[in-house]
Amino acid sequence: MKRLQLKNQWVLVTGASSGLGEEMARQLAIQHKANLLIVARRRERLEQLKTELEQSAGVQVKAIAADLSVLADVDRVITESLEGGQLYGAVLNAGLTYFGRHADLPWDRFESILQTNVVGVTRITTALVKHFETTGKEGGLMIVASMAALYPVPYQAAYSATKAFLLSFTNALSHEIQNPKFSVTAYAPAGIATEMTGGEAFHGLKSWLMPVKQAAAEGLHAFVTRKYSHIPGRLNRLGSMFMHLLPKKFLAAQMGKIYYKSLLQSEAATGTPTPGRP
Ligand SMILES: NC(=O)c1ccc[n+]([C@@H]2O[C@H](COP(=O)([O-])OP(=O)(O)OC[C@H]3O[C@@H](n4cnc5c(N)ncnc54)[C@H](OP(=O)(O)O)[C@@H]3O)[C@@H](O)[C@H]2O)c1
Repeated sequence: MKRLQLKNQWVLVTGASSGLGEEMARQLAIQHKANLLIVARRRERLEQLKTELEQSAGVQVKAIAADLSVLADVDRVITESLEGGQLYGAVLNAGLTYFGRHADLPWDRFESILQTNVVGVTRITTALVKHFETTGKEGGLMIVASMAALYPVPYQAAYSATKAFLLSFTNALSHEIQNPKFSVTAYAPAGIATEMTGGEAFHGLKSWLMPVKQAAAEGLHAFVTRKYSHIPGRLNRLGSMFMHLLPKKFLAAQMGKIYYKSLLQSEAATGTPTPGRP
């Protein structure tokens, strides 16, 4: 399959108001000269990015403020993306996490994580796959999962489970595609320095984090070259191969110790108690 040719094509990027999505949108516009549909809840941030990219890259940008945990908003994004029949690509990147004991996660926050990370992504993916399968048009879709999809992550239990869904779903789906000009890619980064990891709870893990520019560039390379799955960073890829050799229970216990230590450091810094011990 030939590489995606993004120049002058329309690409949907969700979660473009910060972090990885914002940086991928910037690189898609400046380096690949793609027109963009950018989606997130924070309208002002999207409008700022639209102005910046239209001026600096000379591309067209459409900002869509939407809460992807709400099905009506998800459907509006689908309609706006497919109207005119010009959509060429999509990077479904929007996601939420919770770092702490699962027992302390309020139910409405859990529902929001599940709706955004799983239900919204699955609904958009279903609509786009139907579109590309029925029209036979050329294009590509990339879903941002996480390395946390590869093994259970204590203290991010719900988050890692949503990402495990995305990785399994994306990989399975790619085998069902019959349009030879359409690809489905799973992207599974380890820690990245973004708003998501900017909180005090991640303080002890800062040295692990990949710069967002690198994570965005590797992700877009995987998207354009239509990779099946990609983990950015050579050490992360080596680590993932090694991890497959170890029992999941052992890996989860080691992750739990590291994450719990980081939570304790956050407790010391913020004065918020971290209940329980692993
Ligand atoms: N940072 C990491 O260490 C890491 C590692 C592996 C994978 N990832 C994945 O990478 C993706 C991007 O995360 P990030 O690190 O760049 O975090 P981030 O800076 O917090 O960005 C998350 C983006 O998702 C959007 N978003 C969240 N909930 C939304 C909702 N309900 N509706 C619409 N947009 C929503 C946010 O925009 P608004 O708040 O404006 O809505 C924001 O643009 C996520 O899927 C994350 O799971 C991150």
